[in-house]
Amino acid sequence: MSHKIRKFTLKGTVPVAALLITTTTLGAADITYVSGATGAAVENFATLVAPWEELTGHTVTLVPMPSSTTDQFGQYRLWLAAGNGDVDLYQTDVIWAPQLADHFVDLSQAAGDLVKRHFPSIIESQTVDGHLVALPIYTDAPALYYRRDLLEKYGAAVPTTWEDLTTTAQMIQDAERADGQSDLWGFVWQGNAYEGLTCNALEWVKSSGGGQIIEADGTISINNPAAVAALDLAAQWPGTISPEGVLAYQEEEARGVWQTGNAVFMRNWPYAYGLGNGADSAVKGLFGVAPLPTGQGHDMSAATLGGWNVAVSKYSKHQDAAISLAVYLASEEAQKNRALNETSLPTIMSLYEDAEIAERQPIIPLWKDVFLQAVPRPSAPVRQDYNEVSTLFFSAVHSVLSGDEDAANALAELELDLEDMLED
Ligand code: GLC
Repeated sequence: MSHKIRKFTLKGTVPVAALLITTTTLGAADITYVSGATGAAVENFATLVAPWEELTGHTVTLVPMPSSTTDQFGQYRLWLAAGNGDVDLYQTDVIWAPQLADHFVDLSQAAGDLVKRHFPSIIESQTVDGHLVALPIYTDAPALYYRRDLLEKYGAAVPTTWEDLTTTAQMIQDAERADGQSDLWGFVWQGNAYEGLTCNALEWVKSSGGGQIIEADGTISINNPAAVAALDLAAQWPGTISPEGVLAYQEEEARGVWQTGNAVFMRNWPYAYGLGNGADSAVKGLFGVAPLPTGQGHDMSAATLGGWNVAVSKYSKHQDAAISLAVYLASEEAQKNRALNETSLPTIMSLYEDAEIAERQPIIPLWKDVFLQAVPRPSAPVRQDYNEVSTLFFSAVHSVLSGDEDAANALAELELDLEDMLED
């Protein structure tokens, strides 16, 4: 209540008793926003929403959820199926729109002209049967983070192929360990059995010429020799250039090893850039970012397209306030805040020309072309089945990485499982 009182008394005309009636009449609400807790998102949230709270008199409570998008999806799907009226807004992954669309309010009218300021392809990814079911708040495309100091020390170039990355990581890891750096690893990434592994493995496969699991026209393409070779190479990493524990890593575990100075290379999203240059980071100023490598002689790098949006629940009891908050979070002001404080890639086109963002977070203008060419996961062609498709894929990949199955058999079985699932 306190800031609402401040707001009205500043005008100096409304006595406190009248103000209490006014705010009740206006229906000041406490809005509940659920979001995964990765990086600086939770810490920055109060600052991010403060201008909107100040303007509207409403307040927002952030309920932090697990970092894993797979776990968030499972929870949200249950809440939405039960018509949960306690959650007003959901922060949603770019891949979820087709599966959750029925539970969300169409935001096209409320967003109005704001829609035109976003990249059209991102708006399209959140449009289901003509309804804009979520408003984009940031997009995502990963980078190869590399330790500039270590590459210089050993006269090594930034690797452009997965094969080079494997050799360079091993060479530096061996040399540094012989020099007493016993905790150093060559390469950290996300090998846990969850959505993040779908992203990593799609990159190995696509950048090796092995397609994108299920193509845009619905063809199941994953069972092919280039995909098998890509997984065979990755299966060599756990226990050699990557810790065995990488099979349980998500984004934050990889960042933890990297940011304490214990990895030569890391695959991660741009949120790790700002944090890696933070005052408490052991790698501050010591690293660079490059597009992910390619494999098997293929010449096109592949970054999985990620990104987050905000959706208003149909079961919200404060729908107008929730819609207003969604529009604010997708606005230029909020996206600039996120760009500066969380290194999130904006979905508003003009922010790529913003001088302050370019100066403080140079990865952002650099990454515009990377995300514009990023590879989508097959959520559009498989619609209602995406989560199940991804689960089959990351489970198959995980069994190859842990040595339980060889890549050729795992992908042949996966193809059959996908056919079974998609034929009904
Ligand atoms: C990032 C991406 C998201 C993806 C997730 C996987 O948060 O933005 O799209 O699903 O990583 O871990």
